[in-house]
Amino acid sequence: MAKCSVCGGPAVAFIRYQKRYLCRDHYIQFVEDKVRRAIKRYKMAGKGDRILVALSGGKDSTTLLGALSAVRDDIGFELVAVHIDLGIFDYSVKSREAARRLAQSLDVPLIEVPLKEVIGATIPELAKKSRRPACSVCGMIKRYVTNAAAVELEADAVALGHNADDLAVYNLKSFLTQDLEAISKLGPRTDSVEEAAVGRIRPLYLVYEKESFLYSFLRGLPFLHEECPFVDNRQMEVRLKEVVNQLEEERPGTKLQMVTKLALRIKDYPKPRGEIRRCRVCGLISSSEVCSFCRTTERALGKAMGPAVREYIRRKGVELGLIPRVKNTATG
Ligand code: FES
Ligand code: ZN
Ligand code: ZN
Repeated sequence: MAKCSVCGGPAVAFIRYQKRYLCRDHYIQFVEDKVRRAIKRYKMAGKGDRILVALSGGKDSTTLLGALSAVRDDIGFELVAVHIDLGIFDYSVKSREAARRLAQSLDVPLIEVPLKEVIGATIPELAKKSRRPACSVCGMIKRYVTNAAAVELEADAVALGHNADDLAVYNLKSFLTQDLEAISKLGPRTDSVEEAAVGRIRPLYLVYEKESFLYSFLRGLPFLHEECPFVDNRQMEVRLKEVVNQLEEERPGTKLQMVTKLALRIKDYPKPRGEIRRCRVCGLISSSEVCSFCRTTERALGKAMGPAVREYIRRKGVELGLIPRVKNTATG
């Protein structure tokens, strides 16, 4: 049996691009070190910051919250999580259970936003009413609710669960389609826009998808293995993922090189054009007079629901003692 290159114990994984075997404990440490390094190298968070994680119950956000909770005391930041109950049948019920169990076991305060209760419709209902594919409505809703939660809870950043594989693929896709503005958003962090949008960070920037999965598995973190029933496997991303995996197979470390080089050049890519303003209805970031969340809900449900979402989160934040925010600078 292969032995851990650090302690000689039984190995559970081989890191090809480092030619090292690692045991369970050193593997967990290896992933957490990557997260700690990414946070420091790319100045994602510091002492006293409040970081918000959108916890879906799937493997990426589970690894993200697990690894962030492991390094939070070293760096001295605070964690809060938000889970959106999308109302996608059984899938959402199981996702909610996984998110609840995880947040509780890691001692992270969790705000749940049940869409049906807060805006009066689930994702399948909204998709039907707005005649749009479920995934596109869903993506927009998740971005809106997560940003609304971050603004209401005065978070310093929203942590996203994108790993190195995701970023390598998005980068490639954006390059092939010459959507260079999209590349400018794929770096380790993006800045906040006054009080309308909270900046985003990607603590799993240096972590491979496989590593993310194995980390959650080895730590026994609860996550949902099922995929959303609306997942579309014909997307270009799926093909590009195969290409990137093939390159990694032939030249171990390719994905890491892709993301670290991207981080170095990110400022050279053009920023999205167009004015950034605040939605006339809800006050959050928007590219037009009314944001797409308020517009979509107005059209599909007869009422723009942005203010209701903000109000709901504010109420929950107060109940959980997260609002008003008390800056914690005692740790770290
Ligand atoms: Fe949103 Fe699948 S998780 S449509
Ligand atoms: Zn070891
Ligand atoms: Zn709005």
